[in-house]
Amino acid sequence: MSDHTLDDCLSANADQLMIEKVAATELIRRFGSPLYVVSENQVRRNVRRFQEAFQKGWTAGPVRVLPALKANWNLAVQRVLASEGCGADVYSAGELEIALRAGVPPELISVNGVPKAAEHIRRTLEVGARLTIDSLEDVRILESLAPALSRVARVRIRLRPATGFARASDFVPEGPLPTDLVSLGYKGGLSLDESLEAGRRVLRIKGVELMGFHQHHGRHRATTDWWRAQMTAYARDIAYVCRELGGYRPKEIDIGGGYAIPRDPHAKAIDRTAPFQYGALYLLSRLLKLFGDRVRYAVLGRFVSMMTTSPNQVAAPGIDQYAEAVTSTLMSELGRRGVDPTGIMLQLEPGRGIHGNAGVHLANVCSIKRQKWPMPWNVVTLDTSEFFLTAGRFEHHMHDYRVANRMGAPAVQTADVTGRSCYADRLLGAVRLPDLQVGDTFALLDTGAYQEGSASNFNAMPRPATVMVCGAEAWVIKAAETLDDVLARERLPEHLKGKAAAPRPVDATLS
Ligand SMILES: Cc1ncc(COP(=O)(O)O)c(C=O)c1O
Repeated sequence: MSDHTLDDCLSANADQLMIEKVAATELIRRFGSPLYVVSENQVRRNVRRFQEAFQKGWTAGPVRVLPALKANWNLAVQRVLASEGCGADVYSAGELEIALRAGVPPELISVNGVPKAAEHIRRTLEVGARLTIDSLEDVRILESLAPALSRVARVRIRLRPATGFARASDFVPEGPLPTDLVSLGYKGGLSLDESLEAGRRVLRIKGVELMGFHQHHGRHRATTDWWRAQMTAYARDIAYVCRELGGYRPKEIDIGGGYAIPRDPHAKAIDRTAPFQYGALYLLSRLLKLFGDRVRYAVLGRFVSMMTTSPNQVAAPGIDQYAEAVTSTLMSELGRRGVDPTGIMLQLEPGRGIHGNAGVHLANVCSIKRQKWPMPWNVVTLDTSEFFLTAGRFEHHMHDYRVANRMGAPAVQTADVTGRSCYADRLLGAVRLPDLQVGDTFALLDTGAYQEGSASNFNAMPRPATVMVCGAEAWVIKAAETLDDVLARERLPEHLKGKAAAPRPVDATLS
């Protein structure tokens, strides 16, 4: 396997995959398998790259990075981000508390989300975080709370512009759908008419300051043309709302997140040719019934062996390219439409862009099946599961991978790489692999964003530990669950307690 896609915190030392200066196999030996690993230096490096690239382009005012906390809410990681001067995009009451405990300055916390409970809005305003208004219900709650607050409530309005971007969104596995329609169908953000109503009402509330605007579309596409379209439409709608609000001038403009990471695994498990391949396979399999099972499996085996998959090898645009596309478009479009950007703070909320390539998921090979009859089919099973990589499943990720103790070994076989849950749990379908043994260590790359936070206990599996690596050091930052942890929320009604619960008659009136 070629290693040209390894970068920054990942390298090969002889046959070993290194995460910073520690061998992946050493981490497994010390902390167990499976394991989430985060590189502290990679997180810092990513933040600085965003900060520098956007500040270089946004010459009108300051730039602040508010990483999306949902992408990785480990307290230790949030402390790292706070030490870099970052803010935070938070979605829930719990995420707000994590940001505060990590020491993120409240004025750099963007409280997003819809719907928001009144208590959550009250806490947001009391601690001095920014309330990002995403519904008229948020405005109603603000109207009722603001008069009793002891400090000025600072808020922004989340716009949902129609971008007019007609190329296909990566979010839809069923087939190509225009990106602008998919993003208009998403619940985040207010339409123009509701934004105007929200703006007018907010400007009338005493003790509330409207600080500016927010927008987030998500990673529909990795391309910079999608970003230019977003920023053109955002500037158009900001200018419109400012005009309609009687010459209002924003102090902050937040552009949300949605930047791809270099090895972009997003949507790579979606194969748009699959329906045609499956159709051909099905027809062939029906036809071959005429020739008996031996011939049928022999031909199908050849056909299936050609249906291999491989991770993305085309690098997504770099942070510099995103920054250039965003800042140059936004500055010129705002200026052209009469909104002078001078002095406006630009905020961005990368999630996967900060955490994605800082995370690696390690797991040991615990079973190898080499099926020969009725047709060849190899299955390598790891001691992890798709249920520990759930968010990636939602986004149809195909992660790049390495066998961490066989770096550079030639690929000699095709196999499915599966997890250990009772589902098919196909982590990688029909990929090329070196010769393997039970006990080898697999590394799934770019798993730092969303994956750990979305893990579940399906099959009563305890969730793995998370380790942070910095240079040659490594620390557990989230302990592995025990079976007792998994069962901790279970409660037994009185009649089901005791050694063996006695049967009860079924209530016949309910049938
Ligand atoms: C409001 C907001 N900001 C930022 C992000 C981060 O997006 P990404 O991880 O694609 O950069 C999200 C993700 O859902 C979001 O909802």
